[in-house]
Amino acid sequence: MTRLIYYTATTLDGFIADPDDSLDWLLRQDIDEQGPSNYDEFIKNIGAIVMGRTTYDWIRAHEPDKWYYDMPAWVMTSRDLEIPKVDGVKPDLRVASGSVREVYDDMVAAAGGKDLWVVGGGDLVGQFADERLLDEVIASIAPVTLGAGRPILPRRYDLELLEVEQNKAFVTARYRFVGPLKEDLPAADAAG
Ligand SMILES: NC(=O)c1ccc[n+]([C@@H]2O[C@H](COP(=O)([O-])OP(=O)(O)OC[C@H]3O[C@@H](n4cnc5c(N)ncnc54)[C@H](OP(=O)(O)O)[C@@H]3O)[C@@H](O)[C@H]2O)c1
Repeated sequence: MTRLIYYTATTLDGFIADPDDSLDWLLRQDIDEQGPSNYDEFIKNIGAIVMGRTTYDWIRAHEPDKWYYDMPAWVMTSRDLEIPKVDGVKPDLRVASGSVREVYDDMVAAAGGKDLWVVGGGDLVGQFADERLLDEVIASIAPVTLGAGRPILPRRYDLELLEVEQNKAFVTARYRFVGPLKEDLPAADAAG
């Protein structure tokens, strides 16, 4: 069954980018590209991806001549977006706005039974989570604190820890998304 997974790297204090959208703190970390929880293994079973406009802008700015994703990709934005050609070909990039439920249904249809990756940012992940469409969070924690930045998931949820692995500088924790924080549920629900 198709799962929606938030696979991301984060600082110890829960930021996926600094206040200027820099990832320099992340890209200098020691990692074994073929080691535990590696990206190549993860992406093999991903059939469609979705990201917010800031994340898309970061990718375009840092890798203007490349598009690494060969599966359909959605960019959430309220603005017009020009889809650039890469090596003379337009990548399969689709622009969407508003409710994420429709985007989710389109992604499932496009993914051919594979999983879906919500790349970020945190609020976009929260939009899927609020609709109970998020299944898993896989967070690789870098040994860094930033004090401020783009939060990993700025909402109140419970998750269940499923697995922990180390890859050089990183601890990767895999969680099942449970739902709203127990303390926020009506008393009868929270008791169950
Ligand atoms: N550490 C990591 O592994 C990792 C992973 C992913 C991202 N990042 C970084 O983290 C930062 C995330 O930035 P961010 O927090 O600003 O989040 P973002 O989700 O990348 O971008 C937010 C923007 O997405 C658009 N958007 C989101 N939901 C929408 C909806 N339902 N309908 C229409 N538009 C929607 C809006 O763009 P408009 O203003 O255009 O409408 C919004 O301003 C970036 O710097 C990124 O590079 C890091």
